[in-house]
Amino acid sequence: MIPRKGELSEHWGLDDETVFLNHGSFGAAPVAVLEEQDRIRKLMERDPVLFVERESREMWWKSIIAISEFMNADPDGMVFVTNATAGVNTILRSLDLKKGDEIIVPNHAYQACWNAIDYVTSRSGAEAVVVDIPFRVSNEEEVISPLLDAVTEKTVLAMIDTVTSPTGLRMPFEKLVKKIQGMGVDVLLDAAHGPGIVNIDISELQPAYITGNCHKWICTPKGSAFLHIREDRKNLIKPLNIGHGHSSDGTAQEKFRFEFDWPGTQDPTPWLCIPFALNYMEGLVEGGWPAIMEKNRSLAIKARRIICEALGTTPPTPESMISALAAVEFPWEGEITTPGMEGDPIHNLLYDDYRIQVPVMPWVHHGTKYIRISAQLYNHEDEYVYLGKALKEILGD
Ligand SMILES: Cc1ncc(COP(=O)(O)O)c(C=O)c1O
Repeated sequence: MIPRKGELSEHWGLDDETVFLNHGSFGAAPVAVLEEQDRIRKLMERDPVLFVERESREMWWKSIIAISEFMNADPDGMVFVTNATAGVNTILRSLDLKKGDEIIVPNHAYQACWNAIDYVTSRSGAEAVVVDIPFRVSNEEEVISPLLDAVTEKTVLAMIDTVTSPTGLRMPFEKLVKKIQGMGVDVLLDAAHGPGIVNIDISELQPAYITGNCHKWICTPKGSAFLHIREDRKNLIKPLNIGHGHSSDGTAQEKFRFEFDWPGTQDPTPWLCIPFALNYMEGLVEGGWPAIMEKNRSLAIKARRIICEALGTTPPTPESMISALAAVEFPWEGEITTPGMEGDPIHNLLYDDYRIQVPVMPWVHHGTKYIRISAQLYNHEDEYVYLGKALKEILGD
């Protein structure tokens, strides 16, 4: 029988017959947030010109302010992009790389963003320096040391995750930004799993660049992400689309806003829902966002114990190094290859036979397959127990 979901699941429209343990991939927006998006869309379609020229402008700025306040950032450096992949590409494709320059990327990085590094380095004669970090680590130093050791006088950038995708590792990103930038190297923080899953204070951290998704852990509609560029780096970076703003007059800041805010016609409603989503989510749990993050994290910690027990293994990292995502090795004797669009066979089996939506990810860089759980307000501990039983059955225990 399909286990119950968490009490707060009534706020989401998730399928009752699916055990949804993959908030991490694409998020999931509460019904009320989607209704707010519908409301704004209807307003837009009453008079699209009026909406673009006037009505949406104040709303847009309110969204910029809301996400900036949420992460204590300078709103003048905050712009919207459709997703974290676009944010990473915006930075990498703007940098004027030269032959011999080096960009550091840990081997837990999201493959699409890693690919972007490979692309820009190969076309410019620069080099991607891949830093091997094992999956099982017993303290932060085992992550920090190899990354610092990789810095040379040729390093121009390090791309560091807040929380890694294939391995669900909460990176010691605060220390890494301070130390790496202290060595004179800019950091691009990939906070795809950032706002709403870990606390981020941009003014305190001062990363040269940070991009992240709102459609994951803030639960906005999909296609809603941010990019924050530190004041002294704004003149280096252009949006992916060169558009009307490029030939505009005005101050540097006005031009920056125009260039990033108008990449061409698009549906702005996913970003315009940010203030609503922040408030709505905050109201679901007493104690607001800090309490949400702690609640999800403690559920993920419990869930990881349940899965480890089912798989006959031990937690791979200290609890301080996970957030609301956690991964464990899936025992696998076969070949580890990069998955295609058809999905991993174990992932497919879990869905087809048990209706469990959970990612199982072959990670060629570690020669291992990982199963990764997410914990969001709509989940219940029983769902991970159900997954544990399914895993035992699949493994023939
Ligand atoms: C660490 C990391 N970076 C980037 C991304 C890409 O996010 P998006 O598909 O929204 O661009 C993801 C997606 O899961 C991720 O986990």
